[in-house]
Amino acid sequence: MTFKDQIKQGIPSELPSKKNYEKAINHAPKRIDILSKEEKELAIRNALRYFDKKNHPVLAKEFAEELKEYGRIYMYRFRPDYKFYARPINEYPGNSIQAKAIMHMIQNNLDEAVAQHPHELITYGGNGAVFQNWAQYLLTMKYLSEMNDEQTLIMYSGHPMGLFPSNTNAPRVVVTNGMMIPNYSKQKDWEKYNALGVTQYGQMTAGSYMYIGPQGIVHGTTITVLNAGRKIAENGEPLAGKLFLTSGLGGMSGAQPKAGNIAGCITVCAEVNPKITEIRLSQGWIDEKITDLNELAARVKKAKENKEVVSIAFLGNIVEVWEKFVEENVYVDLGSDQTSLHNPWAGGYYPAGISFEESNVMMVENPELFKEKVKESLRRQVAAINKHTAEGTYFFDYGNAFLLEASRAGADVMAKNGIDFKYPSYVQDIMGPMCFDYGFGPFRWVCTSANPIDLEKTDKIACEVLEEIRKNSPEEIQQQMIDNIQWIKGAQENKLVVGSQARILYADAEGRMKIAEAFNNAIKNGEISAPIVLGRDHHDVSGTDSPYRETSNIYDGSKFTADMAIQNVIGDSFRGATWVSIHNGGGVGWGEVINGGFGMVLDGSLEAQKRLKSMLFWDVNNGIARRNWARNEGAVFAIKRAMEVEPNLKVTLPNLVDDSILNNLF
Ligand SMILES: NC(=O)c1ccc[n+]([C@@H]2O[C@H](COP(=O)([O-])OP(=O)(O)OC[C@H]3O[C@@H](n4cnc5c(N)ncnc54)[C@H](O)[C@@H]3O)[C@@H](O)[C@H]2O)c1
Repeated sequence: MTFKDQIKQGIPSELPSKKNYEKAINHAPKRIDILSKEEKELAIRNALRYFDKKNHPVLAKEFAEELKEYGRIYMYRFRPDYKFYARPINEYPGNSIQAKAIMHMIQNNLDEAVAQHPHELITYGGNGAVFQNWAQYLLTMKYLSEMNDEQTLIMYSGHPMGLFPSNTNAPRVVVTNGMMIPNYSKQKDWEKYNALGVTQYGQMTAGSYMYIGPQGIVHGTTITVLNAGRKIAENGEPLAGKLFLTSGLGGMSGAQPKAGNIAGCITVCAEVNPKITEIRLSQGWIDEKITDLNELAARVKKAKENKEVVSIAFLGNIVEVWEKFVEENVYVDLGSDQTSLHNPWAGGYYPAGISFEESNVMMVENPELFKEKVKESLRRQVAAINKHTAEGTYFFDYGNAFLLEASRAGADVMAKNGIDFKYPSYVQDIMGPMCFDYGFGPFRWVCTSANPIDLEKTDKIACEVLEEIRKNSPEEIQQQMIDNIQWIKGAQENKLVVGSQARILYADAEGRMKIAEAFNNAIKNGEISAPIVLGRDHHDVSGTDSPYRETSNIYDGSKFTADMAIQNVIGDSFRGATWVSIHNGGGVGWGEVINGGFGMVLDGSLEAQKRLKSMLFWDVNNGIARRNWARNEGAVFAIKRAMEVEPNLKVTLPNLVDDSILNNLF
């Protein structure tokens, strides 16, 4: 059967043969056994809903086995045999270019070279799922291949509820992931309701089909490391010879060494998982691998002496590196952590003192003991970090809930006021005030021709647009513009593509709109051979309400509200997005954040031009307006500028209050 026929077939009525569990693939850790007997029966009943009754006897047993063995029902048997990758758009069957572009994006998220646990349909972050099981994938692709541009596909946490009549201006797909009644939004609830097969953790770009491999994050990480470097520079000196110590070589964290190289420092990144370390080494995302602590300390000392630009993976636990560098007096200039602490008890964080393999067993067989070990390890890690920061290390939380979980574990991370943490998050100090408040965020695009030549052309176009804009940019955003122009100039040389022909480029509203318009024109003129998908990470100006991350630099008390993210997704959907998504849990954990995103297909048409202008303007300025209302200086500046350009924009501005007015009021 051809690829197109397989897609059109959906869930096969005749059972495909059973699949072997491929050991060479990086699999999701076994999930905890959380369901009662009755709930397990319900999970099986739920799973069987997708299948013809005649297959129930075989599948019921098989799914029960999967639930027992892996803690979830992935329906491995139904994983198609064809290769998963972002195929050229014309290789997908269907009636709608927009729907075909979405298929291109979905397949990229499940590509074995891209996804963290491809057979469990998890793209990154340990539990960031595109779908809960293979039946959902098959059915979704079938719907996409059948739909027309007057229908909308409705996705409930990976489950395709169906195609509904809509109109050509409506999104083709509306995605919700992990939306819960607030009282049922704890980590344990995810375990339970995900095991039942009724919800999923979509992370940010996993469940919204917008992941573009680690490059998506390399750019943001480069900006972060560069600006962290500027913060610690005494005389404006560059990062040469300075040490950045961190952890994780996974989906996002794997970008750190590459970003460190681009920023020009020495990066040491600890990773406990040997398979992942090998992958990053083979991809050239790290320069060297070291497995012995003494050797590591010696190597770093040498690199410092020679002011080398080098990235070193340490295969082992990060806690041990922090401790060893105290012992050896290795000065750490910049420090962070990117273990997956948004998912602390199910494989996101491996405690020191226990092997990787032992941990994988313990988290399932003795979850309470495992929890204690994680907490103990966090306390140890923080104790060592505190020793370094006492010497001058600049440590920042990388939005992975490190400080949050460390505080919950009783580690010494609280500031004197007992409310704040003693270390900033990267958003509080860097991303928020320098980027988000001005509207700069992780804009991206994907060439659906899958042709690198198209990508090269888009890089050139984007660079020209930014250089033009920069000529008239105010002083306040000059540094951002320079960094972003430099990034796009080096993008080809840095060989950042893993998976689809995609590019990330931080840009503000003006940049995003002008670049998108130039792309649309290039498609119209035939300079670019196929439609382009625009999108962004949820980790952006407006898409995400997350009090310890994206909105951690909101200080008017509203950081615990989620109006901005909800308004954003509603606003995007009626201004022309091709698909929209709203999730619970991206990045920092289930219940801790509401985050949304969009995808927009540019096909060279006039309609696309109208849509891009209307939607991109809103998609950035919604967040700037809110940040402005929270009295963030950069955002007040940026929204005033936006109002000058667009007379139809009228935003409420805050009146600032003198401190003296508040004296002796209570
Ligand atoms: N890069 C960014 O811009 C960014 C932004 C915001 C948040 N984050 C957060 O960073 C975290 C990491 O994301 P990811 O996609 O890389 O997740 P991931 O699960 O793919 O990778 C984390 C890696 O850390 C390793 N690890 C766990 N405990 C360890 C330990 N004690 N010592 C050494 N290695 C250990 C794991 O083996 C894993 O490979 C997430 O919580 C994510 O939300 C990243």
